[in-house]
Parts: sequence; structure tokens; C-alpha cells
Amino acid sequence: MKQIMKLSGWVLAACCSGALMAQNVVVSTPHNSLVLKAKEGETPKVLYYGGRIAESDVQNLSATVVAHNAFPVYGMNCPSESALAVTHADGNYSLDMMLTGTSTREENNATVTVLEMKDRVYPFYLNLCYRAYQDADVIEAWTEIRHTEKKPVVLRQFASAYLPIRRGNVWISHLSGSWGNEGCLTQEALTPGLQVIKNRDGVRNSHSDHAEVMFSLEGQPSETNGEVIAAALCYSGNYKLRVETHDDDYHHFFAGINEEHSPYTLKKDEIFVTPELALTYSSEGLSGGSRNLHRWARLHKLANGTTLRKILLNSWEGVYFDINQEGMDQMMKDIASMGGELFVMDDGWFGQKYPRKTDNSSLGDWIVDTEKLPEGINGLLRSARNHGVKFGIWIEPEMANTVSELYEKHPDWILKAPERDPVLGRGGTQVVLDLANPAVQDFVFNLVDTLMNRYPEIDYIKWDANMSVMNHGSQYLPATEQGHLFIAYHRGLEQVWKRVRAKYPRLTIQACASGGGRANYGVLPYFDEFWVSDNTDALQRVYMQWGTSYFFPAIAMASHISAAPNHQTGRTIPLKYRIDVAMSGRLGMEIQPKHMTDEEKEFCRKAIADYKRIRPIVQQGDIYRLLSPYDRQGAASLMYVTERKDEAVFFWWKTEHFVNQHLPRVRMSGLDPQRLYTVRELNRVEKYPLAVEGRTFTGRYLMEQGLEIPYSHRMESHKQMGYSSRVLLLEAAK
Ligand code: GLA
Repeated sequence: MKQIMKLSGWVLAACCSGALMAQNVVVSTPHNSLVLKAKEGETPKVLYYGGRIAESDVQNLSATVVAHNAFPVYGMNCPSESALAVTHADGNYSLDMMLTGTSTREENNATVTVLEMKDRVYPFYLNLCYRAYQDADVIEAWTEIRHTEKKPVVLRQFASAYLPIRRGNVWISHLSGSWGNEGCLTQEALTPGLQVIKNRDGVRNSHSDHAEVMFSLEGQPSETNGEVIAAALCYSGNYKLRVETHDDDYHHFFAGINEEHSPYTLKKDEIFVTPELALTYSSEGLSGGSRNLHRWARLHKLANGTTLRKILLNSWEGVYFDINQEGMDQMMKDIASMGGELFVMDDGWFGQKYPRKTDNSSLGDWIVDTEKLPEGINGLLRSARNHGVKFGIWIEPEMANTVSELYEKHPDWILKAPERDPVLGRGGTQVVLDLANPAVQDFVFNLVDTLMNRYPEIDYIKWDANMSVMNHGSQYLPATEQGHLFIAYHRGLEQVWKRVRAKYPRLTIQACASGGGRANYGVLPYFDEFWVSDNTDALQRVYMQWGTSYFFPAIAMASHISAAPNHQTGRTIPLKYRIDVAMSGRLGMEIQPKHMTDEEKEFCRKAIADYKRIRPIVQQGDIYRLLSPYDRQGAASLMYVTERKDEAVFFWWKTEHFVNQHLPRVRMSGLDPQRLYTVRELNRVEKYPLAVEGRTFTGRYLMEQGLEIPYSHRMESHKQMGYSSRVLLLEAAK
């Protein structure tokens, strides 16, 4: 054995046995390794993906494990699912790739390894790329495709990555849902056949199914134990994840851009870069997979992922389209008085020829409606300054209404099929702008740029997107490239986002798309957070935020206290429960404060002060999910623990309300067994403290026994509530 190169976190090792030379490429993060067999002239194979592997074990892999092609291509093994399928310039449908070389390069905190491949016959090239982080256990995999054939090659299938998942009893956990019910968790055993999780919305790609999955390798999923592989496709557009369980009993996982209605004509020398698939392995169950992804997200993927978020009031559920200077001023005053730090004016502030009174006009006309706001944005900024809060604003830049000055001026800027009237969206008049068109890209960038130039005090933008691509037709792309529409839209959009971020790196931007339509790691590098759902009902949020937390950290999950009865479900939930749920994410409010009683405002003021205390723990800590609402045991619970394990916040929410219903005891997790933690309840509503209040327990006791949580709140009878919840702060003795 001869070692030819060793870099921190990455190893290239060559082993010789007689005339045969097999070279292993090891891609490693602190606790994960991916091993590929990479011999020049042969097809690269995956030998191993799991916990960080010792060099001595790497040497045995080739001879002892089943090797799978690292990137199955179509044409020379037709019955299997493939990652890449093309039609060459001469009409040949097949590919046969061999390794021509490997290379590495160092990036900030990561090493990129590239396996370079070429077709044995055609001048068609494929790079398999792997980025291994050195401070987070994530490997990102993607491809670069290129050719020098005489005429264009058509890409018919172009996954980002392929991974063989071990044989046998493997379970998949994935999210699905719909408007108002995003992030629902489904967990099921992988069975023979093909499972496809995909999106074709064109604009929003996480309302229904999500582009992230977790595989539990040892059967039925557990939050705390067992081996897990988590995967997240980092792409803002249409995607497709496939898991094929073969007659060989392996589960073959493919992830990438959804190629349906998207054949891509690749010109000579053009490089087609696929989006990254982020992979992580954990032996600490599903929560372990989440912690790995969250850490990577905070450090590398989410905009400003290590900056604590402000506590805000958003105007939407408080006033809807009824915007005016006085009303905004009053809301700013109210949120400031409760200790909030930011006010966000939602939809309804713009349009002059066509003022935005409801959802059927004005998108595209991003000029202040001076009827509603005679003093314009300056008046609002003045109010914000007076009340000592920051100011944010809502826009929906990718869209127009047919009732708008923009559409009158640029009817050629919208997506629509030739010879046909467009299918219309929200309000019966909404259309999607053609982001493939550079003039539209400039328009969208200039909207943000102009706002920020004129009003540099704007601190936050809520970037919404409320329509699917309902019309296949770009008025910009040539007839021969209509198949590029979905891809070109997202490339155009990403270009705009890159320009915005290059110029305004510290601006807080929320990704909203009819609620949770843009919870995705293709979006998040440009956004600080996303709106989890338009549904703010606290009980349903327990379920949605639970699911969403599988893949996304709390700092990115906008979670607002709203009114009772709730505007989406009509359910009346006590303020305590609404606060206790909202505090488990990025806390905000979405309510008309002037309709709150003084007592309610005082409760929120205290909760906001306490949230400031726990904000670093929730927003930067490690998540430990303890009791799943999806297990229907009557309660749900999770906690966040700081990296130093000196502080933690424990959340517990009842999810069912039956007399004498027994609830399970919850054992804590993630604490230091040796340390002593003092328990303090936050958002207390009872006169009498919990029996555990102020007491000190070892981490071991809390993790082995857990605490006795009363099933209900001991209130005076007229205050008695069906809902019960607890937030406990645990502080370790210094
Ligand atoms: C979408 C968003 C909401 C709100 C409205 C405004 O539905 O999800 O939060 O901003 O648009 O029209």
C-alpha cells in the first residue's frame, strides 16, 4: 500500500496488488466518510458511506463489500434506474463512462474532490464532485456535464447524485403536505419497487413534498438511536428523488432536478452544473441527522446563519390589505412596547394607477399607494425610528397581475404559451414573470436595489411567491429551448438572488411562498429564514414545525403568535400555548395588538423578554426531539441544548385533551450526565410553581428519569384551559 496524498479531512490512497492497481478515494468530514473505488480506465464505484472510516478498513473494502457504480448512466445496463441519460449528437442513446483522473481543491473549511470521467467513445465528459466540510458532517455531491460533440447533446435525465443505501429493512422519513398543512411527516419501510418524491410546481417546491429525506438504516426510525443517512437536495426548482428497491435488496437513491418537461439541449463546451445533494450520516438517530444538517446550515448554507434573529410583528393577520400610516404606526408602537425589535409591513402598500386593495391587482407596480400612505415609506421609517424598532417590507417580485401597469407595459415579460391566453393564478389575474429573460432579472434586482437605495434603513424583506408555473412558455427563450423553461427560470432567479446578496449581505430576507413553499436549501443560501406556513394555529404548528425541524434549524423557522380564534382553523387556543409553541422557533407575532387586552400584552412582553434569554439556545443550539406528536401519545416534546451543554430549553405541549388521559413521561437528551442543571419554568401561568422549580438535577437523572410534568395547569376554574404546555430553562451550575 502506498499513500499518495493526504489532506486534512480527505485521503487519496492507492493500493497495489500484483499488476492490478485499485485506487480508493476517501472523502471525509470529521465523523463521516465516503469511499469510492476509482481506477483510471474503469467505472468508479461506491464502496462505503457511513461513519468516519479507519485507513486500515479502507484497504479491505474493495475485496469485501458489494460495489455499485458511483453514477449509473443509461444505455449499457438498460433495466436499472439511471442518474444520467443523454441523446448524443448522432442519435446514440447510450453512455459508457470511465475514469480519466481525480483532483482535489481546498475551499474555505471544505475540500472538493472531483472524479473526472469520459465516455469511452464519445467526447462527452462528466465530473463527479464532492465537497466535504471540515467543521460540519456534510458531504455535498453534484456533477458537471460537458461535451465537445459536433452538435448539441440532449440531456434527458441529469441527477445530481446517486447513493446505494444498504440492503434490507430501511425506513424512509419524508415530508409532504399542502397549503396550511406543510411539513407533515411520513415514515415508512422501503419496499420493492420505485418510490418517487417530486415537485413540478415551477416556483414553490416545498408546499407538498419536500426535497429532503432521511433513511433509518436499522429498521423502524428512532429519534435518538440507530444509523441514519439524511439527504437534502439544494435546488429551488422542480426536483425528483427516487428510491428503487431492487431484486438485489439494495435501496438505490437518486436525487436531482426533475427532468420531466425539461429536456436540456447542451451545446458544445457548455458546462451543465447540477445542484448539490447534501448528505450526512449519524449514528444518533433522526435527531442526530437533523443536528448535522442544522449545523451545516447555520455555518454554511443559510444566509447569516449564526446571527440571532430579531423578534418581529408582521402586519398580515392584524390588518390584511388595510394598510395606512396611522395603523402601521400603532402596530410599531405596540410591538415596541412589548419588547419587539422589528415591524414588517405585509401586502397592500403599493400600486398607484391600480392600488392594491385585494389580491387581484398591482403586483409589479412597486410604488407606494399614496392614498394609503401619504408620507410614503419615509413616514413609516420615521415611525419606526420614533418607536425604536426596525422596519421591514413585503414584496412579491417574481409576479405580476394582468391588472397592473407593469403588465400593460411589458406583456411579453410573463410566462405563457404562444398562441394561447395565459392561465391565471391568485385573484384571477396573477401571472409569473419570465425570469429566463435578463430584462426581467434586472427588473427584479432593481426593485430590491431601488428600495434599499432610497430607504437604506429597511432592515428586512419578506419575499413572497404565490403562484405556480401554470403556463409552459417563455416568451424570451427560442422555440428550440422551451424545454429549458423551468431550469432557466431558476437560474435567472438565482442570479438575481446572488446579486441581491452580494450587495446586501446583512439585509434579513424571508422566503415566503404562500406559506411554506420555499423551505429548501437551494433557496436558503440567499434567505435568512422561511415562513413555515400560512397556518398559525399553534396546535397544528406543533406538527408542522416538528416535521420541518427534521431538516431545518429553528433559526430559519418563522413562528408567530397569532390571534384567537385562529384565522385559519377557527380554533381558540390559550395565549400561553400559542406563545409556548412560537418560542420554539424564530419568535414573532402576527396579530392586531390593539385587540389584545393589557393582561395579554403584559404576558407577551414577559415572554419576549424571556425569549431574548433563550434565543441563543433555540437559534444556535442542538435539537433533541423527544416525543413525537406523530406518535399520537397525547403530547409532544423537544429540547435545544447549547454546544457547551451548559444551557438547554425544554418544550412540552399537550396535543390531545381528554380527561384522565395518561401521558408518557419524557426523558431528556443531549445534556452532560455529570453536570447539575437548575430548572426554571418560563411563561408560567399558575400561582404556584412546579414542584421542580428552582431544583437542581444531574444531567444523568434528567436523561434517565425525566421530570414529572403535570398534565394540566392548576388554574382558577374560570381560567382553566384544555391546552397545556411547558417551557423549562435548564441552567448548569457554572
Ligand atoms: C401569502 C403569504 C402571506 C401573506 C400574503 C399576502 O399568502 O404566505 O403570509 O404575505 O401572501 O398577500
